[in-house]
Amino acid sequence: MAKIGIFYGSTSGVTEEIAEKIYEELGSEICDLYSMEEDFDDVEDLLQYDYLLLGCSTWGAGEVQNDWREPLFDMEVEKPDFSGKTIALFGPGDCQGHSKHFVGALGILYDQFKALGARIVGAVPAEGYSFEKSTAIRDGKFVGLPLDEVNESDKTEQRIANWLDILKADFPFQVA
Ligand SMILES: Cc1cc2nc3c(=O)[nH]c(=O)nc-3n(C[C@H](O)[C@H](O)[C@H](O)COP(=O)(O)O)c2cc1C
Repeated sequence: MAKIGIFYGSTSGVTEEIAEKIYEELGSEICDLYSMEEDFDDVEDLLQYDYLLLGCSTWGAGEVQNDWREPLFDMEVEKPDFSGKTIALFGPGDCQGHSKHFVGALGILYDQFKALGARIVGAVPAEGYSFEKSTAIRDGKFVGLPLDEVNESDKTEQRIANWLDILKADFPFQVA
């Protein structure tokens, strides 16, 4: 069975914890887990997988987490081919403290990997989230799974479960 690569960038450990939860849920038989800070060498790490779950928190004002910056810059220059790859995005933000830039990093990853030919799945309806603005919305939906451990940590588990349920149509895993 095709393996899934889970790659995450995390500054204070929130995305890391979420990525670990997803990894545990799906199981090590079908997933590999990479920290962008500790395990990522170059784009070949990503390209070895046909299925990718990419996690990135939002920092600055709607920017990607630090460990993603250089890889994304390199990919913008080198333009590796992601056609045939299925990608889903997840990332935490802060819908109150950063309400005008909520999970903007997801929009940046979406635009870039889509431009490189990837098929991006796992969009999430914006209903149920309160925020002012987000550049991660396309056609009324978030391009991936937004989470908020600052204000809505009680919703995280269910949000992840709902999302995995959506993803199983496009990813090679089953969830109970
Ligand atoms: C200085 C700073 C800037 C931030 N900027 C944003 C932002 O623009 N949009 C957003 O949704 N969250 C923003 N956040 C919230 C973080 O994304 C959130 O705390 C997240 O859980 C951090 O995840 P990490 O520990 O995996 O990096 C910011 C937090 C800090 C401290």
